[in-house]
Amino acid sequence: MLEEYLNKIINADCMDVLKKLPDNCIDLVVTSPPYNLKNSTGNGMKDGRGGKWANAALIEGYENYDDCMPNEEYAKWQHEVMMELVRVIKDDGAIFYNHKWRVQAGLMQDRRDIIYDVPLRQIIIWKRKGGINFNAGYFLPTYEVIYFIAKKDFKLAPHANSYGDVWEIMQEQRNDHPAPFPVELIDRIISSTTSQIILDPFMGSGTTAVVAAGLGRDFIGIEKSEKYCKSALERLEKNKVNPEVAKFHQPMLFSEVVPITPTRKKKKKDEYHIESLF
Ligand SMILES: C[S@@+](CC[C@H](N)C(=O)[O-])C[C@H]1O[C@@H](n2cnc3c(N)ncnc32)[C@H](O)[C@@H]1O
Repeated sequence: MLEEYLNKIINADCMDVLKKLPDNCIDLVVTSPPYNLKNSTGNGMKDGRGGKWANAALIEGYENYDDCMPNEEYAKWQHEVMMELVRVIKDDGAIFYNHKWRVQAGLMQDRRDIIYDVPLRQIIIWKRKGGINFNAGYFLPTYEVIYFIAKKDFKLAPHANSYGDVWEIMQEQRNDHPAPFPVELIDRIISSTTSQIILDPFMGSGTTAVVAAGLGRDFIGIEKSEKYCKSALERLEKNKVNPEVAKFHQPMLFSEVVPITPTRKKKKKDEYHIESLF
């Protein structure tokens, strides 16, 4: 059952695929959902014209998803996705779920309406370089959060805990997707584990897949937009020749943290393709 999804980019609504996955089959989830950023109460991105966000990449939302739900509906949806993710990870599995806290109507909107009834183990601060939003009512936000949710038997790879819980990593600059993960961030997460099967239900431009493949792990990538699936496929092909992870390996640390020999037998050349469920 799982085999049919391994090392594939699946063009689908993630819930349709998650519901088909058996319990306890995934080692690691690494993901960043749409943030619902266009649903803003302030001088933000709501109408796509005003405010200081006018030049932000996400002003148009995603290719076929407008990122603008009433917050209650959004939180309910994300919580349902989260429950599926918890169900599919193994007893030694973990989920790294990236999100952003923000101020709405003058009050902090944290993500407690999504992250509840889950084994939350730690919150990692991803400190970005700079930020946008020049609201005089509060300090310029410069970090995002990564909820590290782990079932009881999960352990980090040897020595990975020395990274600490505040990670200063530059946001991605060279990627056409409006909200890509930096490769370095995903390299840090995946190489801090010994996980073999890695799932990203909101795969976007394929960063999780590219890093997983580069580190000799298996991936399952789900993405609603056909355009982003095509970009991810193209990127995976390029990575066979020039792996993007290569530039982030700190040789000493890396050789300690990452199992250099992948546990799965790699085919001579992985063949990637998109499978559409639409
Ligand atoms: C924050 S982006 C992820 C970016 C990704 N981490 C990367 O490195 O490019 C969220 C993605 O979720 C996708 N998306 C939105 N709703 C979805 C759904 N129901 N199922 C699957 N993907 C969805 C959007 O098209 C968007 O590409």
